[in-house]
Amino acid sequence: MFSKDFLWGGATAANQIEGAYNEEGKGLSTADILPGKERFNYLFDPQGMMDTKFDFYPSHKAIDHYHHYKEDIALMAEMGFKCYRLSISWPRIYPNGYDEIPNEEGLQYYDDLFDECLKNGIQPLVTLSHFEMPLALTKEYNGWIDKKCIQYFEKYVRTVFERYQNKVKYWLTFNEVNSVTKLTFHSGGTIVPKGENVDQYGYQILHNQAVASSLAVKVCHEIIPDAKVGCMVQYSPIYPYSCHPDDVFAAMELERDRETFALELFVRGEYPYYSKRLFNKLDVNLDVTKEELDILKQYPVDFISFSYYMSLAWAREGFIGEITKGNQMSGIKNPNLESTEWGWQIDPKGLRIALNKLYDTYRKPLFIVENGIGVKEELKHDTVEDDYRIDYLKQHLLQVEEAIEDGIPVMGYTMWAPMDIVSNSTGEMSKRYGLIYVDVDDKGNGTFKRYKKKSFNWYKSVIKSNGGNLKI
Ligand code: BG6
Repeated sequence: MFSKDFLWGGATAANQIEGAYNEEGKGLSTADILPGKERFNYLFDPQGMMDTKFDFYPSHKAIDHYHHYKEDIALMAEMGFKCYRLSISWPRIYPNGYDEIPNEEGLQYYDDLFDECLKNGIQPLVTLSHFEMPLALTKEYNGWIDKKCIQYFEKYVRTVFERYQNKVKYWLTFNEVNSVTKLTFHSGGTIVPKGENVDQYGYQILHNQAVASSLAVKVCHEIIPDAKVGCMVQYSPIYPYSCHPDDVFAAMELERDRETFALELFVRGEYPYYSKRLFNKLDVNLDVTKEELDILKQYPVDFISFSYYMSLAWAREGFIGEITKGNQMSGIKNPNLESTEWGWQIDPKGLRIALNKLYDTYRKPLFIVENGIGVKEELKHDTVEDDYRIDYLKQHLLQVEEAIEDGIPVMGYTMWAPMDIVSNSTGEMSKRYGLIYVDVDDKGNGTFKRYKKKSFNWYKSVIKSNGGNLKI
């Protein structure tokens, strides 16, 4: 059974929803130079992206939540949301990252947004950095590879903790922080010079962000003693493709290196026992001080949050099999699972497995802060009959309930996303996740009107019955 204070809701990110990219003093963000459909080609070539002028940037208008936030929160309230996960756009607060004083108009915007949430009985759950940072920090310092970003981040989080201390009690530091070891620009604003070792950059950035996250925990607890701070990872359990011991070990290693390595830093506050061997293999030598290691140890997070969209399979080197796409990484296609149009494998039971594995290892409360399905959809008679989305969410929620019965403290579930928003990986609007249809196309054209899909009323009834009607 779901507890009576279970935090039901939905999740979004500033650069995928707000628009108003240059309004009221906001500086350019690293996400504001990501193109639409072409972005995938540039994920590993950010310099090429910086040097190219594209004709369309999805974040510039997104779904114009900046000017529609009251209407959007009213719709969330109508569904009975207890919680809304959103991110603050760092360059709205410090346009360049290194500014002396914050931008008052940006601060006021989030004040109004949080007031609107609280007025409607919705707890904000705030991500401090969701795949973006002030672009000026990339230009000036090459992003998170430079430790100066730790001090700029600390200044930014101090500003928002002080300002919103009476309004926000749940915070997350970096979205899907484990992605930064490969996606150094997307998650860390850093361009790796051609020919240099990406792993060297990736793990150094992860270290710098882990120190910054620990400092954020410290500062948050000083300023808002009753607040809780979590880390956020992308977690897809990796299944061995077969029971051959070499496949089992390969799957375990991939999961460790790409997913749970980060948790060791954020949750245990120390480097895992296998890091020396891994760093030797990858030829990584980190710049780490004793003082930084002490900070990691002293200020671990209060809870673990994660996104769950799929499981993946993996096998020993040399295995030849069909590869399927995933969120941030690919895997071997699992013949037992169906996939979405984008190749993401649908595996509700994998969520119960994920919750059990994470709790078994870390014994921290867990929060599922993203889960959902992207589908190409068309509006018919002012709605979308999205039974497939109802089924997807229902099957996953039933597994969350099972995990709670297993004995796991699950704080809440914020599905991705209450309304259709820009896709992070493809820059498209047509990869739609919402319970609410938003009339905007892949080029940013449309009326921006919101329409309730069939899943809107279904999710409303789930929340109203506190999950009671899931089995009906
Ligand atoms: C997660 C991100 O990776 O997955 C979100 O935190 C993203 O920002 C979500 O939107 C879904 O991915 P996509 O690429 O389909 O938008």
